[in-house]
Amino acid sequence: MVARARGLLKRYGDATVVDGVDLDIHRGECLALLGPNGAGKTTTLRMLLGLTPPSGGTIEVLGHRVPREARAMRAYTGIVPQFDSLDPDFTVRENLLTYGSYFGLGRRTVEARIDYLLAFAELTERAGAAINALSGGMKRRLTLARALVNDPALLVLDEPTTGLDPQARQHIWERLQHLKAEGRTLLLTTHYMEEAERLADRAAVIDAGRIIACDAPRALIARHIEAHVVELRGDAAAGWPAPGLPGVVTERVGGTVLLYTNEREPLLASVRQHCGDDYIYRPANLEDVFLRLTGRQVRD
Ligand SMILES: Nc1ncnc2c1ncn2[C@@H]1O[C@H](COP(=O)(O)OP(=O)(O)OP(=O)(O)O)[C@@H](O)[C@H]1O
Ligand SMILES: [Mg+2]
Repeated sequence: MVARARGLLKRYGDATVVDGVDLDIHRGECLALLGPNGAGKTTTLRMLLGLTPPSGGTIEVLGHRVPREARAMRAYTGIVPQFDSLDPDFTVRENLLTYGSYFGLGRRTVEARIDYLLAFAELTERAGAAINALSGGMKRRLTLARALVNDPALLVLDEPTTGLDPQARQHIWERLQHLKAEGRTLLLTTHYMEEAERLADRAAVIDAGRIIACDAPRALIARHIEAHVVELRGDAAAGWPAPGLPGVVTERVGGTVLLYTNEREPLLASVRQHCGDDYIYRPANLEDVFLRLTGRQVRD
């Protein structure tokens, strides 16, 4: 076991933002925390890292009690925070060097590792560049490289790909898969359900400070949502008759109708009768599960 939290609690004034979270992270797995804005993901990560004091509960990470022994634990942990905290006064290379010195790593040790880290992040050509000259994707890659400076066993990544274009995102996914293949343990948060489906061995859905489901992405899909989805838009959606098909869950979202079922053929036959081929069929995915579990209301 890499980390274990029991009864984790965080209160800010009257608000309970993490409300009795139990979490186990197994060695070598990738665990994703999913949840709407304000669900308590960052707060949970920060408590696990000893960066925010919990209001209650117990935490053990890499054999260290947190927050008491957080410093010792962080020597073996890599952190990618939600918002980049690179030093704009330093170059790419200097950012890696200074960060290494926080761990008490000698300049030589870090120097020896920096070329590898720059290559890993595909930033070799940018080693002398100023931080402000980097694109969003490059900054994120540098933050990831920085988190690897101490060769961590556990990597904690808070929204590693938010705001990145598809190329940059896929690049980070590929790097994270590589790190996992090396045997490192990954804990990440994301708003991209595809990211969780691709990377995570298990996903925990957190809402209003509580874990409401935790399992392998496929298991969550099998358990919490019908297997098949038909989407109707425009005229097809407007003309879709009131629900009435047995075993079909109907959701209207703006001008779109979503039909969920485990019996694909009867639904498709009925849809074709009403709308010809003006529909989209797809298998249910983690995003459907997420919306079913946490609702469609916008949070902030
Ligand atoms: N220092 C603080 N003081 C008061 N409230 C806070 C503080 N930090 C976080 N909160 C509140 O705690 C709740 C959980 O915040 P947190 O940042 O953990 O959410 P999150 O799941 O990471 O959201 P997002 O997806 O937007 O990053 C939010 O309502 C937030 O406003
Ligand atoms: Mg957050």
